[in-house]
Amino acid sequence: MKIAVIQGPNLNMLGIREQHIYGPMTLEQVHEQLKNAAQQNGVELEFFQSNLEGEIVDRIQECLGEVDGILINPAAFSHTSIAIRDALSAVSLPSVEVHISNIYKREDFRQKSITAGAATGVVTGFGPFGYHMGLIALMQIVSEIQASLQAQEEQQEEA
Ligand code: DQA
Repeated sequence: MKIAVIQGPNLNMLGIREQHIYGPMTLEQVHEQLKNAAQQNGVELEFFQSNLEGEIVDRIQECLGEVDGILINPAAFSHTSIAIRDALSAVSLPSVEVHISNIYKREDFRQKSITAGAATGVVTGFGPFGYHMGLIALMQIVSEIQASLQAQEEQQEEA
């Protein structure tokens, strides 16, 4: 199973930016921990971070036929980007949106995620551990999809 991990703007500044909100871990450290968890479950991760909306749209489009699911923190673009939402809808892959902070506890403008409407589910407010939660949820969803596809194939073979 292959999962793309897509990180939006300013997440490359983790460990430096607003530590009282996002904690002390760097993005590299978050990814390292996630990689270990994935390896233990036989999952391959592909990491991508960009501060540019169009690059994130491109990366999501590239996921089609390449990965089984998307773990994404669109960061500030969550609150503004119809283009990222449309890209997620277009590829129609299972996806989990992660926010390190609890966006519902924060400023009004953060309390609406435009992109979340295209995600299978959302994890918000559990710090970097939210990426683990999202990964576990994705592994479950992808496994269920793969099992039901296989069952369909077997039924067709029998018919
Ligand atoms: C964030 C929340 C967003 O509102 C913010 O713009 C971010 C990070 C989070 O992970 O908590 O950059 O997505």
